[in-house]
Amino acid sequence: MVSDFVLFGVLPYVAMVLFLVVTVQRYRQSKFSYSSLSSQFLENKQHFWSSVPFHYGILAVLGGHLVGFLLPDAILGWNAVPWRLFLLEATGLSLGLLTVAGLVMIVVRRLSSSRVRRVSTIADWIVYVMLLIQVVSGVLVAYFHGWGSSWFASSASPWLWSLVTLSPDISYVAPLPLLVKLHIVNAFVLIAFFPFTRLVHVLVIPNMYLWRKPQVVIWNRGGPAARGGGR
Ligand code: HEM
Repeated sequence: MVSDFVLFGVLPYVAMVLFLVVTVQRYRQSKFSYSSLSSQFLENKQHFWSSVPFHYGILAVLGGHLVGFLLPDAILGWNAVPWRLFLLEATGLSLGLLTVAGLVMIVVRRLSSSRVRRVSTIADWIVYVMLLIQVVSGVLVAYFHGWGSSWFASSASPWLWSLVTLSPDISYVAPLPLLVKLHIVNAFVLIAFFPFTRLVHVLVIPNMYLWRKPQVVIWNRGGPAARGGGR
């Protein structure tokens, strides 16, 4: 189908080119915009209990995706023994639920704290909606389309490798259920949108958000809300 070709044979390339070109361009033009513009100093308690589970959850889940992509045979070998397959699937699902819970709390905090809401941009809200679609669809895929780790290794991984080698073979993904297609397409839309948003902070290494001591951040732009005023 033409739409499958556009979604799985063209979109990934458009997304990767946008990601690379705009990321490099933004870094060269305004290095200091590579930040998540932390709102930690506006409200810290709820921030901690949402941000930390979300970040650990998403890093672990994406690490799992990376292993499935790079070492599909190792995953299939591991999954050949039933208890190991259950263990891997249960771990993935739990990490997915941790990520969703953290993200929902992040959004609730942003909606419920007027100070944090005032410093949120349209791009922030778009990112949150896309991230929610991504992690919720991932958990639903894991729940409704069982043994995803095995079929990721035998269909998603070869499809991704076909993209890497510039010979896209959409026959691996075209027959997949709609929910899985939504999960994949939204991932590439997210990748395309990434360099325009606060998500670029992921690329600034070392990234110490997860273990650094609380810090005081003073923004030198925007209105009184941005400077912590308007109490
Ligand atoms: C922005 C990128 C992505 C994010 C944030 C993301 C997030 C998630 C989450 C939270 C889960 C549920 C936890 C789990 O079972 O591991 C999941 C599962 C899954 N994702 Fe993704 N995903 C992304 C990209 C992709 C892509 C590009 C593919 C396929 C090419 C994919 C295929 C899958 C599959 C097959 C599962 C089910 C795994 C299982 O049942 O064990 N994901 N994803």
